[in-house]
Amino acid sequence: MAKTTHTSTKSSSIRPPRVAIAVMAAGKGTRLKSKHPKVLHEIGGKPILAHVIATAAKVVPPSDIFAIIGHEADRVRAALAETGVNFVLQPEPRGTGHALMVAREALSPYDQVIVLSGDAPLITPETIQRLRDFHTGQKATMTLLSADLANPFGYGRVLRKSAKSPEVRAIVEEKAVTPQQKKIHEINSGFYAFSVPALYEHIGSLSTDNAHHEYYLTDMAAVFCRARKKVVAMKTSDAGEVLGSNTRAEMMDLDALLRLAKCQQLLSEGVTIFYPQSCVIDSDVEIGADTVIEPFVQLLGKTKIGGDCRIRSYSVIRNSEIGDNVTVNPGTIMDDSRVAASAIVGPYSRLRPGSEIGEGAHVGNFVETKKTKLGKGSKANHLTYLGDTEIGEGVNVGAGTITCNYDGANKHKTVIEDGAFIGSDSTLVAPVTIGRGSYVAASSCITEDVPADSLALGRARQTVKEGWAAAKRANQAVLKAKG
Ligand code: UD1
Ligand code: CA
Repeated sequence: MAKTTHTSTKSSSIRPPRVAIAVMAAGKGTRLKSKHPKVLHEIGGKPILAHVIATAAKVVPPSDIFAIIGHEADRVRAALAETGVNFVLQPEPRGTGHALMVAREALSPYDQVIVLSGDAPLITPETIQRLRDFHTGQKATMTLLSADLANPFGYGRVLRKSAKSPEVRAIVEEKAVTPQQKKIHEINSGFYAFSVPALYEHIGSLSTDNAHHEYYLTDMAAVFCRARKKVVAMKTSDAGEVLGSNTRAEMMDLDALLRLAKCQQLLSEGVTIFYPQSCVIDSDVEIGADTVIEPFVQLLGKTKIGGDCRIRSYSVIRNSEIGDNVTVNPGTIMDDSRVAASAIVGPYSRLRPGSEIGEGAHVGNFVETKKTKLGKGSKANHLTYLGDTEIGEGVNVGAGTITCNYDGANKHKTVIEDGAFIGSDSTLVAPVTIGRGSYVAASSCITEDVPADSLALGRARQTVKEGWAAAKRANQAVLKAKG
């Protein structure tokens, strides 16, 4: 019995520390002048907080991540539900120190906590890991990540014990800095590592005796120093990583940085992007090697593009999957659609949700598709609407064809089987099926199913009145002569 107890004590003393990540995201974001929570504003195509959480999830599992939320908590929770992280409610935003006070119960099972700011999304997993290792190596109670900024305005300044010492005696917020301290360029990034037991032993010493009447987490540096606990700063070499987004202007700076970084990543992976500053490519987009992106292209959401494609100017592609060797001509708009290898789309095509363009198929100028499958090698090249349509292989859809899928109350399906030929300016009134290998004569209105291998004509027979125009002109000349 005694032996068992001894063994368990020993194993617990050598086990690695349990580490949690807390992300502070409960603030109002007053400086944005927005009715939406700051952390849900999007940069790089997704909410700021989603970037921070994705980074945190590369360091610890989502079950060890705690997002501290408050302002519009339900919306924030809903937007991040699928990340699998935990949420802690801070009912009133009474400061960054208060955010950690309310997380006491959630964090108490851990040995260390890394604290991130939900509004500073450029931090990398490597830097978080380095912060943790530095904290452990220094045997510190609190470690903060600092950076040298050319313009430190607005940030808390780091007061070191001496210029060369890693030890910090306090952090002073912008509103409290003396003229002398204003000259300090080393800022507090808002990222920290803490010993959890020490944090909660001393957090009660924070006060609201400051310009905002809030509990500042930054004051823990001075609190720990008074208690003779070690506080150190680790300076990052990349000051860009710590930038926060308190104003719209700062947010747009971060957006531009993220997008440029995304382009650089794609360039290094073998994608050509002409004039990358003009392209808008979201963080989660994937593109294969030797694909060429022309200027002024937007690739959004979870879009995935194969290799050897050419995406030409002014195309806007969202949540779509494109195979290899596809050409998307200028001005194409695509949402929630799939395009198979070697297809050609555009110029000026609009692929609405549920469009599936088959291998080698063509969709041309001013063609709109919705919930439509266009089979291998089929073509719809000009001025056409295809909605709720299933089109087989090797079909030619003539210019100006329209599927009439809506009867005013319900949507109906059109089926065009393999090898059919739809003459120009035809209307196909759904539900209707055009059989395999059939022809529809130009300008037909088709209301009934067409069996395979037939010709369907659905239009008025042509009448010709010979001499009619000449007679009309003669009549007009007589009237004119009479005055
Ligand atoms: C904070 C730091 C400052 C640092 C800067 C770095 C404090 C007092 N100051 O200032 O030293 O240089 O970050 O970006 O911490 N939040 C809550 N609950 C609250 C208040 C804030 O969760 O009650 C969240 C916010 O949503 C935000 C983060 O904490 O994501 C930081 O708060 P913010 O008000 O932006 O602090 P800063 O003024 O930027
Ligand atoms: Ca901030």
